[in-house]
Amino acid sequence: MTRKEIIAGTLALSLMAAVGGAATALPDWTTDAAGPAPFAQAMHAPDDATLDQRMLGRSFFSIPWVAAPAATTARDGLGPFFNANTCASCHENNGSAPAIDAEGQPRRALLFKLARPDAHDARLATDNPESPDHARMLDPRYGGQIAINATGHATPEARPRLETRQIAFRYRDGAEVTLERLTPKLDALAYGPLAMDTVIFTRQPPALAGLGLIAAVPDAEILAWEDPEDRDGDGISGRANRMTDGAIGRYGWKAAEPTLGAQIANAAASDMGLTNAHYPAELCQSGQTACIEAPRGRPSPQGLLDLPDTRLAAIETYLEGFKAPQPEHLGASAARGADLFATTGCTACHRPELRTADGREIRPMSDYLLHDMGKDLADGVREHMAGPSEFRTAPLWGLGARLRAGHRFLHDARARTPEEAILWHGGEAAKARKTFISLDPAARAAILSYLESL
Ligand code: HEC
Ligand code: HEC
Repeated sequence: MTRKEIIAGTLALSLMAAVGGAATALPDWTTDAAGPAPFAQAMHAPDDATLDQRMLGRSFFSIPWVAAPAATTARDGLGPFFNANTCASCHENNGSAPAIDAEGQPRRALLFKLARPDAHDARLATDNPESPDHARMLDPRYGGQIAINATGHATPEARPRLETRQIAFRYRDGAEVTLERLTPKLDALAYGPLAMDTVIFTRQPPALAGLGLIAAVPDAEILAWEDPEDRDGDGISGRANRMTDGAIGRYGWKAAEPTLGAQIANAAASDMGLTNAHYPAELCQSGQTACIEAPRGRPSPQGLLDLPDTRLAAIETYLEGFKAPQPEHLGASAARGADLFATTGCTACHRPELRTADGREIRPMSDYLLHDMGKDLADGVREHMAGPSEFRTAPLWGLGARLRAGHRFLHDARARTPEEAILWHGGEAAKARKTFISLDPAARAAILSYLESL
């Protein structure tokens, strides 16, 4: 079967199961997308040991960390630099968190990152943070990410700000949408100027939906959907992100982390200053003396680390244990929208179904591949194989809950609504965007209603 036949087949099945009033029983690894906190519904734990691990992981994820050394708690080791003191600050109810406030200014959940694109273009990407090639990709004074908070004597690195430019868009039928382009700026840089060639880019937190299910999808299932030469001629040429050791990337906006463990290790080190086996040194730059002199982590068999592997594994077990949101049933407009979502070409990337190693059919609405999204979405940054304009197809499960929680969309949170997100699609998705724009208002509304039901 070709990719298109698979899409058509699964869509017909999904409609038969979901439409028509009576709610169909959802598989036990899913939870009603319209219910409360759909990212935080735990799956049945196979045994007590798993349950204990989850509880431990939950405490590391959601109870605030404090600066070391603290006699009163096992959760010391925060900083010296950090952006938030819990994972849950940026992943509320295991979802995302508001990235931008009512004045259009960044909240702590919006990470301000730094890169030097020339080094990125030279394909110096490397997994080894100790390597000089890796250092050339980062800003010499601030590294790869700005910390807005610091413990002890260290001074926070800078104060982030956004400049907003509004862009008017008008459909042929006269309906208007205002898009916002956000330009990141840094004030009060505490350790000197950025390098001349440093660019600032931003990332908002994705919702942590169905992470255990995604981890259970075999590489082969993702790779079967690749079409780097666009052999089926649909203008869409997804390819997997690959690490230097050949592992397939799955997590993050550019699928730059191969495993959940690696992603958690990265988040712990970069966002909270928690050292671990992947990042044994605090992320201080050479001019940041107070950071360099701050106390080191706790003794563990792996050396002085804030998060030795046992703790990292507990967080992983916790995050893997959640159900994925899925609509219990679709209203008439949403059901029509599901159909249009496929005929408009959205499912070429927002793949309706993936199969886990143990045969479960899951619906993240992503192919977990990279796509060139055009120059308007490009951020100048390369992460492993992902070029400046390439992003992982954003999974859409739980999109309705994110919308209801007031979160924004796209990697840098520029879109206030799913509709704005669609209008920013370009590159390989330009054709689908064009088809969407050409639909009549009722058809567009049906697609949006479908997205809100996910
Ligand atoms: C200051 C905000 C912030 C904090 C604190 C934070 N995260 Fe995140 N998280 C993000 C952002 C932003 C991304 C997207 C990163 C990217 O793609 O570049 C992300 C991505 C992730 C992902 C990948 C999800 C996916 O769909 O691919 C996981 C898993 C994750 N974070 C877990 C954690 C854990 C565990 C912690 C605590 C140790 C944590 N995060 C702390 C902001 C945060
Ligand atoms: C060529 C692949 C491709 C096609 C076709 C495509 N998308 Fe996307 N979509 C993406 C990627 C990649 C992103 C993430 C882009 C980013 O964050 O910069 C995305 C993001 C989104 C988002 C925002 C999700 C979030 O978490 O922020 C929505 C909503 C969306 N797409 C809907 C659609 C709809 C509706 C269509 C059909 C009209 C469509 N997409 C067609 C690749 C595609």
